Amino acid sequence: MFNFTSTLPLTLYIHIPWCVRKCPYCDFNSHEAQGGIPEAQYVTALLADLEQDLPAAWGRPVDSVFIGGGTPSLFSPEAIDRLLSGIRALVQLQPGAEITLEANPGTVDRERFQGFREAGINRLSIGVQSFQPELLEKIGRIHNAREAIRAAEAAHYAGFDNFNLDLMFGLPGQTVPQALADLQTALDLEPPHLSWYELTIEPNTPFYRHPPSLPAEDTVADMQDVGRSTLESRGYRRYEVSAWARDGRTCRHNLNYWQFGDYLGIGAGAHGKLTDMARQAIVRSTRIRHPRHYLDALQKRDFVHSRVELSAQDAILEFVMNALRLDDGFTPEVFTRHTGLPASALDPGLQTALDAGLLEHTADMVRATRLGQRYLNELLQFWMPDARGN
Ligand SMILES: C[S@@+](CC[C@H](N)C(=O)[O-])C[C@H]1O[C@@H](n2cnc3c(N)ncnc32)[C@H](O)[C@@H]1O
Ligand code: SF4
Repeated sequence: MFNFTSTLPLTLYIHIPWCVRKCPYCDFNSHEAQGGIPEAQYVTALLADLEQDLPAAWGRPVDSVFIGGGTPSLFSPEAIDRLLSGIRALVQLQPGAEITLEANPGTVDRERFQGFREAGINRLSIGVQSFQPELLEKIGRIHNAREAIRAAEAAHYAGFDNFNLDLMFGLPGQTVPQALADLQTALDLEPPHLSWYELTIEPNTPFYRHPPSLPAEDTVADMQDVGRSTLESRGYRRYEVSAWARDGRTCRHNLNYWQFGDYLGIGAGAHGKLTDMARQAIVRSTRIRHPRHYLDALQKRDFVHSRVELSAQDAILEFVMNALRLDDGFTPEVFTRHTGLPASALDPGLQTALDAGLLEHTADMVRATRLGQRYLNELLQFWMPDARGN
């Protein structure tokens, strides 16, 4: 079925599942750190978890590491240092590998950032969300606007020339001028990268059970228009639905997901995806989700919750779900290299999507049109077997 001819790029994701307080919009696998975090034991578990996964990725260098959460900045620089040293002893990190750590402004200061940098972190991703005091309160953040600004300043001070700020728009009661003011404050802090997410109401969150009053659809569309021109005028280029970068500082780790590369995923609830060249298979795995159960698994050294092989149909759908998020789309060669399938495997959905004006196919690129990016879920339906009546 699959015919992989070359090894795919490989990255490593590490999940830290604790936060100071759970935000009411968030459905990430994160838990309130009541009574302290067992960080030393968790680092031991992470390294044992990685060791268990090594045979599946034998000899393959790792291009990037992303420590996400949850709130990884709750971990001490010493714990992160032990984690990165352990990783270096187990896998070959490419020289100049991008190593990102997610940080919440309510949990950091200059010394902590300096400590992370000394441990080997070379990129930070700081969750700001907004600079408006009343909006920060409405979305249950633990920090104020001043602390958010200080966190970005501390990143510069600690010598991080590469960092990202996370901002959200479409927040409860937010106006277009407020969204614009948030962007301008963020840009004045000179982040090389900005993730600008529209708030989504996720099932299983307090915001889903008690929906806040959100701005009207037209207002959100206006925020998008004003935001787009502001970001462009300040030298940022959008390369994915929510990701903007200056001077080519795209996030290499996330690009690998969007291009359907391979990744190891360790830590509570983490996902991994590996191409097995010998068996010509794509294997997805998930780790035990609850932090306590994950830590218990250290005894048996088996942290895996599930392992499944993708069908060709799964691989096509997952590929388009990711690659059509990219502004540049993808080439047929990238499709073939990353799915092990001929470009013709895309045909069933391709023509319908082109006819609907949601997709464009130039000489060598396939990408979503502006309309297609706006109605991405509708676009992906064209590769869903049920939607085509198969
Ligand atoms: C794991 S968090 C980042 C680090 C840290 N936990 C924090 O919040 O400061 C990842 C980012 O996802 C975004 N996010 C989380 N839930 C979201 C939602 N429901 N809608 C849109 N963006 C969301 C936020 O911008 C958040 O900063
Ligand atoms: S701090 Fe980040 S990961 Fe934690 S609950 Fe809030 S958004 Fe989610």
